[in-house]
Amino acid sequence: MNNNETQGGLHKSVINWYPGHMAKTKRLIRENLNVIDIVYEILDARIPYSSKIKDLDDFIHQKPRILILTKMDLCDKKETQKWITFYEQQGYTVIGVDLEHPFNPSVLLKSTEKMMEEKNASRERQGMLKKKVKVLIVGIPNVGKSTLINRLVGKKAVNVGNKPGVTKNLDWIRINEQIELLDSPGVLWPKLDNEKVALNLASLTAIKEEVLPLYDVVFYILKMLESYYPEKLKERYKIDKVEEDFIATLETIGKKRGALIKGGEVDYDKVVTLVLNDIKSGLISGITFDRFEENHDK
Ligand code: G4P
Repeated sequence: MNNNETQGGLHKSVINWYPGHMAKTKRLIRENLNVIDIVYEILDARIPYSSKIKDLDDFIHQKPRILILTKMDLCDKKETQKWITFYEQQGYTVIGVDLEHPFNPSVLLKSTEKMMEEKNASRERQGMLKKKVKVLIVGIPNVGKSTLINRLVGKKAVNVGNKPGVTKNLDWIRINEQIELLDSPGVLWPKLDNEKVALNLASLTAIKEEVLPLYDVVFYILKMLESYYPEKLKERYKIDKVEEDFIATLETIGKKRGALIKGGEVDYDKVVTLVLNDIKSGLISGITFDRFEENHDK
């Protein structure tokens, strides 16, 4: 299929994104839902709407859930805070984390234990022992699931192994006396309900680069910077605006950043890669592409 084909404004190829992972995670959840107590749903703080999983309740039913926003160090805190407040108003427990710098998990672990208090009180009343909290991490690709697991597990990883008849070939890792974490995260599907969501995901590299045309993605990134973070556009690319003739903008950036081929001509592909790398490597930080006012009623 041609990557440029569109269907109702949405690129068809985007719709078939990561089906294999999806099926695996669905199975993982279906087979183990009875032993999972709490789900950590991981979102990227720069796209707290676009990185949200589609119809997660269909998979996890009414399991208690903590929304964890990773990459807080890269987001526009003021804009992301609007989303945090919004999700809290919907009844979610929301925790923002920066996993790139020394990470103290105590807030997350306390919230996790607190969620189990009611269940454990009822178990105690029935003369049963306190139950260890079993946590499953889910999220779309690249939001930081593995990084979070590594940070939580740290050096004192204790693999508590399989429990025959209870967990089917799953490895649980003890985080502390109360909490055990499933060692493999579940990869799920984002909403992808409009092209802006797809572009947000592609911009922040949650979608494989070949899925959307890179020139479209870079045009979108520069337009977003122009609209919401013009100072960053100026600082990084020395331009004030993005021309409707996009090639002219690439020319300007290419010349200023030395993305040239022999003979001094601008290498457009190089400019596109350069912008994508600036975002991917966090060189452009302090940005949130899901604008609360545009999306929160969806
Ligand atoms: P995944 O399991 O959900 O697919 O995501 P993963 O943990 O692999 O994280 C994807 C990328 O995001 C990694 O960078 C990781 O370092 C980065 N990352 C995760 N959390 C944070 C955060 O809070 N802040 C920042 N700044 N980055 C974060 P990478 O370049 O793909 O790999 P690496 O070489 O840095 O490990």
